[in-house]
Amino acid sequence: MAIKTDLFDLTGKVALVTGGASGIGLAIARAFLEHGARVIVGSRTQSKVDDAVRQLDAIIPNDDDDLTVGGVSLDVQSEDSINHAVKKAMDLLGGLHIVVNSAGIMCKKPTFDLTDQEANQLYDIHVTGALRVSQAAGHIFREQHDGCIINIASIGSYVSLTEVTAYACAKSAMMGLTHSLANEWAKYGIRTNGIAPGFIPTDLNRKLIEGTDRGRRILEHTPMARFGDSAEIAGAAVYLASPAASFVNGVTIPVDGGYLACGAGDSVAPWEKDA
Ligand SMILES: NC(=O)c1ccc[n+]([C@@H]2O[C@H](COP(=O)([O-])OP(=O)(O)OC[C@H]3O[C@@H](n4cnc5c(N)ncnc54)[C@H](OP(=O)(O)O)[C@@H]3O)[C@@H](O)[C@H]2O)c1
Repeated sequence: MAIKTDLFDLTGKVALVTGGASGIGLAIARAFLEHGARVIVGSRTQSKVDDAVRQLDAIIPNDDDDLTVGGVSLDVQSEDSINHAVKKAMDLLGGLHIVVNSAGIMCKKPTFDLTDQEANQLYDIHVTGALRVSQAAGHIFREQHDGCIINIASIGSYVSLTEVTAYACAKSAMMGLTHSLANEWAKYGIRTNGIAPGFIPTDLNRKLIEGTDRGRRILEHTPMARFGDSAEIAGAAVYLASPAASFVNGVTIPVDGGYLACGAGDSVAPWEKDA
């Protein structure tokens, strides 16, 4: 087998990032661009998409001959909206090779109070939404025998997180989706993997974890004793999309400052060390 000289080069690839207008999705879009890919970001709020495209444009400006960044209004709960986004990626950027399923919402409340509607919406956005996007892109990937799907799961895919039951169920199911597609679609040249971020303050969870007891308990359970940054999740995405991961299929990589590795040992938080 030929040895690639630049293992992390994404030149020539086009990526669609759902939920790509903010947080982790936007950081992944930025890193993809910086590694040579062309990127289209999508979410429901057009103003956020426009703003994200402006930010991404500022990194690597579009020029008339070689468009590198696009944006699309996208709702992963709608098949029509997804088909439109995939078509836009093809029309605007001339192909599609990578999809990142990063669209997501949060619902925190005691499990006794969780409604069917809330649980179903969460599942539909995270899991069925990722499935719909993967299917739409998968048709193209199968035809070209080349494709990469990255599902943004969570450490809630692995362990319990308090009072976010619908979210944790959906994120566990995303790992199941990753396993299933990795198994069934590898023969079409499609690799499917996941990333399980630890706690990254974003619009999704900032109010839950910044300056709260919950946040303090999380930090006490995190060997690196800090929250992560969205940019620290992007490296795993570049890796999974790149030639460096050409034999990697069906894994969900935790990027969590050691949260999952921390058992019932002593707290490692800096303020505890002073006590
Ligand atoms: N932050 C963390 O600590 C953490 C940890 C583990 C996993 N994650 C996962 O990482 C992913 C990104 O979250 P984030 O933390 O970066 O939060 P975020 O900034 O709120 O990003 C989520 C994005 O998803 C979009 N979205 C929501 N529903 C959508 C839909 N139906 N169709 C299309 N887009 C939709 C939102 O934009 P619109 O509202 O405009 O649609 C938003 O831009 C999520 O899947 C989340 O569960 C986050």
